[in-house]
Amino acid sequence: TGAQVYANCAGCHGPQGEGNPPTFPPLKGHVEKLLKAEGGRTYLLLVILYGLQGPIRVEGKEYAGIMPGFAWLSDEEIALVLNHLAGWGAPQGFKPYSPEEVKAARAKTLSPEEVLKHRQGLKLP
Ligand code: HEM
Repeated sequence: TGAQVYANCAGCHGPQGEGNPPTFPPLKGHVEKLLKAEGGRTYLLLVILYGLQGPIRVEGKEYAGIMPGFAWLSDEEIALVLNHLAGWGAPQGFKPYSPEEVKAARAKTLSPEEVLKHRQGLKLP
């Protein structure tokens, strides 16, 4: 299940996605904003696959850490964990991630710095 895959994330982001500032940003209450932004759905998928290297601003706080990528998880596991995050809040009409969508995102390998550039192109509130 998505909750089982989320065990890989809980050590840093907290069992309930509450985060652990100043190093680990919250996911609960925040991922919904990423999903609402144009391009945010793809960005979220890229973070899990390839990781992220800061600096970023989340809920008014600065983070400048490094998240490792999880490309070693299966397409199905990544889809499950993304849908688990979306379970904490997603825009109306949200379509669950599919393993096929994850597979397609593996076509180009990105560095965590390149994923940051992707984030900088999002219009976040
Ligand atoms: C950032 C999800 C595992 C450390 C993020 C972001 C997401 C995310 C969506 C980006 C937030 C944003 O752009 O606003 C996940 C998921 C995980 C996971 C779903 C499990 C599959 C981990 C683990 C660590 C970690 C295990 C620690 C070793 C971080 C850090 C950042 C971050 C430090 C911020 C990076 C920066 O400052 O640029 N995570 N994460 N994450 N994650 Fe994770």
